[in-house]
Amino acid sequence: MAERHEVPETGAAAPVVPSLRWADPPEGPAVVLLDQTRLPAEETELVCADVPQLVAAIRALAVRGAPLLGIAGAYGVALAAARGDDVAAAAEALAHARPTAVNLGYGVRRASDAHRAASDAGAGPEAAASAALAEARAVHAEDADASARMARHGLALLGELRPEGGHRILTHCNTGALVSGGEGTALAVALAAHRAGALRRLWVDETRPLLQGARLTAYEAARAGMPYTVLADGAAGSLFAAGEVDAVLIGADRIAADGSVANKVGSYPLAVLARHHRVPFVVVAPLSTVDPATAGGADIVVEQRPGREVTEFPGALPVAPAGAPAYNPAFDVTPAELVTAIVTEAGVASPVTRDGLAKLCSTSRWS
Ligand code: MRU
Repeated sequence: MAERHEVPETGAAAPVVPSLRWADPPEGPAVVLLDQTRLPAEETELVCADVPQLVAAIRALAVRGAPLLGIAGAYGVALAAARGDDVAAAAEALAHARPTAVNLGYGVRRASDAHRAASDAGAGPEAAASAALAEARAVHAEDADASARMARHGLALLGELRPEGGHRILTHCNTGALVSGGEGTALAVALAAHRAGALRRLWVDETRPLLQGARLTAYEAARAGMPYTVLADGAAGSLFAAGEVDAVLIGADRIAADGSVANKVGSYPLAVLARHHRVPFVVVAPLSTVDPATAGGADIVVEQRPGREVTEFPGALPVAPAGAPAYNPAFDVTPAELVTAIVTEAGVASPVTRDGLAKLCSTSRWS
């Protein structure tokens, strides 16, 4: 079931329709998504009334971006519990819907653990389902809080990197309110700079093949009134060469214990360019994206997606000969030595070291 909304030009940062919401009966139980495959043309809600529908939406990228995948995973477990489905099987299916963003498994585990703990303590199915839902709501709220903290830490870091202000920021993929309980990760920092009057330009990589930059980041930047320009990914090098980039800000799908960062494919070339041109390369991600169980970049599983995402534009003419073989990794991995700083809700790791990251992860009270 889908409900369609025209996209108004309000100048607000967040979409009119929330990127994800829980619906109680009689509308639900359901996880209701803003269908990101339809943006920027229209804000359409996609109602997931069971876990297979939610898994399909995750695979199709109707819901996407690491923090939001964690939130979706948690609500997915709550949905299975509310329906009286097999919660363990649902959790397994959700956790494996996409392999790279560690937040997905994190959110699923939080809600599953809450459900199991309630059941083990003698709660009946309804009370255990309520416990799973409460935990999903907590994951959602914590992400909003983390987003606000990252924006503050990131803005302060930008000020240190370039005290004279006036930042020209290059970003890749989409990291705003569309992927978060709050205003996002890297885009939340750019938005904070914009509100502080310190954003000269947001350079938005189009982010081939699925155009999360052109379709989604440009959509969010336009709604927030940010000064932005979309560029083809291959144009980034000439921007660096012209001295037009003061910092690169990106998000992450998984950060290994050694500080290696998996993010949308095309991030690693930006890190190489940034190093060559002595431009800071900054990763903004909540601690739920840091995975101490993944030792290094080589251990990160990179999702491979269908080749037709490269050889065709959705609903348009093919852009390669019929049957052209295509290489379509969804992510690439940037080694820690190319990352200037990792901004989290608990503070900033810079330089990026195993010990520095571990220290941030062990912080119990965040500033
Ligand atoms: O394939 P996607 O669109 O889910 O990839 C998303 C990204 O790579 C984002 O940059 C990352 O999840 C960080 S979102 C705050």
